[in-house]
Amino acid sequence: MSQTEQVLVLVKPDGVARGLVGRVIGRAEARGYRLVRLALRQATPELLATHYAEHVSKPFYPALVEYMTSGPVVAVVLEGERVITAVRTMAGATDPVNAAPGTIRGDFGRDWGTGDIRNIMHASDSPESAAREIAIWFPEA
Ligand code: RTP
Ligand code: MG
Repeated sequence: MSQTEQVLVLVKPDGVARGLVGRVIGRAEARGYRLVRLALRQATPELLATHYAEHVSKPFYPALVEYMTSGPVVAVVLEGERVITAVRTMAGATDPVNAAPGTIRGDFGRDWGTGDIRNIMHASDSPESAAREIAIWFPEA
C-alpha cells in the first residue's frame, strides 16, 4: 500500500554558511524524492518557538535559538513513500560526533567547541510533526 508522505528539511545556518545546501538537498534528490517547496529564510525567535515547541523549556534552548538565528536557513519539503524515515536515517544521530559515516551529520558535521550541537540539518520526525512544521515554514502551502 502506498504511504506517500511529505517531510520538512531545514539546512541549518551552519550548512548554508559552509556551502552544503546543494549536497544536502542533492542527496535526497538523488535517491528519487521529489522537491515540492524550497525557500531561503531567516528564522526568528518567534518562529523557532513554534518549530521547536517541544524544546522551549530545555536548558539548551537559548543556545539552539542563537544557533538557528545565526544566519539564513534553507527550508525544503520533500515528498515520497516513507520519506520521513528515509530522511531521518540520512541525517544521522543528533550529535554529529556520534553520527555514522555516510549520514549527512556524520559526513559533514563535527563538534566546533561552541558548547551547542551544530548539525547541518533538521528533518521532521513523524507525519504529525511534518504537517505542523510545513505549515509553519510554508504557511501559503
Ligand atoms: P532536529 O529536530 O533539528 O532535526 O534534530 P533531532 O530531531 O535530531 O534532535 P532534537 O532532540 O529534536 O533536538 C533539536 C536540536 O536541538 C539541538 N540540541 N542540542 N545540547 C543538547 O543537548 C542539544 N540537544 C539537542 C540540536 O541542534 C538538535 O538538532
Ligand atoms: Mg527533532
